Amino acid sequence: MGDKIISGFSKLSKKEKISWIQKNYLPEEVDLIRILSSFNHSDEDLQLIFEGFSENTISNFYLPYGIVPNLMVNGKYYAVPMVVEESSVVAAASSAAKFWLDKGGFKTKVLSTTKLGQVHFTWNGPVSQLRDLFEELKVKLIADTKELTLNMEKRGGGILDIELRDMSALEPNYYQLMVSFETCDSMGANFINSILEQFGYSLEAFIENHAQIKEQHRDIMIIMAILSNYTPECLVQVAVDCPVEQLSNACTSLQGADFADKFSKAIRIAEIDPHRATTHNKGIFNGIDAVVMATGNDFRAIEACGHTYAAKEGQYQSLSHCEVKEGHFRFWMDIPLVLGTVGGLTNLHPLAKLSLNILGNPNAEELMQIVAATGLAQNFAALRSLVTTGIQSGHMKMHLTNILNHLEVKGAAKEAAIDFFKDRSVSFSAVRAFLEKYNKAE
Ligand code: MEV
Repeated sequence: MGDKIISGFSKLSKKEKISWIQKNYLPEEVDLIRILSSFNHSDEDLQLIFEGFSENTISNFYLPYGIVPNLMVNGKYYAVPMVVEESSVVAAASSAAKFWLDKGGFKTKVLSTTKLGQVHFTWNGPVSQLRDLFEELKVKLIADTKELTLNMEKRGGGILDIELRDMSALEPNYYQLMVSFETCDSMGANFINSILEQFGYSLEAFIENHAQIKEQHRDIMIIMAILSNYTPECLVQVAVDCPVEQLSNACTSLQGADFADKFSKAIRIAEIDPHRATTHNKGIFNGIDAVVMATGNDFRAIEACGHTYAAKEGQYQSLSHCEVKEGHFRFWMDIPLVLGTVGGLTNLHPLAKLSLNILGNPNAEELMQIVAATGLAQNFAALRSLVTTGIQSGHMKMHLTNILNHLEVKGAAKEAAIDFFKDRSVSFSAVRAFLEKYNKAE
């Protein structure tokens, strides 16, 4: 076991790291250097940039970079870059984008862009005194972070509000500063966290030194200061709508009204059943995450926030909703999305930069709307398949292509296989059996 544990791994050179892994975790016949090198970028400077994003980097991990064309958002056309490994996601979003193109496209509205952060602390004094001194404390907090907020204020952002939250009914002596921020076109994590940490120091000093606070109440503990990824007020609304009869071309098997009925029942199920809601929302995040990744944003933050938002009524439920009223179909969702178009990876990763370029260099609010529209498109496509053909037929087509590529099947044999599996279940063994027969017959 000894050789499998190491201290100081991070201090080894890249070459040393690779040989340590080779020696201790891989059989000799796996040529780790060759495999990893084949995924290194040929441009050494670029490779160094990629390696700089994280720690202990030994190569790059590739994911497909695709495009969803024809997404219309508020009358503007977009070709949307997506980074996703799951087959059918890009195809499904593309078909939904096209479907809604001649029906007015996606209509979106940013409801707010407020971000949040918290300083968590315990204090053994009376909360009434904290409340009495709170305005004075706020002035100090703002003054102590003047330098940190200067640039953001020039861009139109900064600290919006500081609120004292009494949490002592849940945990003895526990309070929070709940702070709201506007961070303009940046996601703002560094900005927010720097301010919150300074708030922590300032709050501690305020309590420990204030003349009106009794000696026995000077005991404050700053537990932590960190942004909250739950930002229900950084919200965008996205909707599509059309007369029910226009849904007739959503599929071949159902009339518009029947499709709308079945579709809205599928939504209703996701509104009332957390098992279905989880899968339903996962489908929405198939689209959202892929654009978030392609633009160098933080998909873990987006997911965490979205799922908490989905549970805001006390039970986890569908993020999207649907209404069929007087012959009109409306499908929409409100989704919290903290996104940046400046700072972080958005400027450093060449493909994130390119994605923003392809999107016309949107500001953060425009990006929120594009991402929300892609999420709703993805959800529409998934539900359309689920309530009509099922999703497997689409998946199987991609699965077959992957298997044929893997087996290096080309030309006439490939075409024959595609034709043969048009209405049959695809599996590795079934494809192999087909090819054996096909090759014998040829
Ligand atoms: C698969 O990645 C996503 C779906 O399961 C979403 C859904 O069921 O709504 C198709």
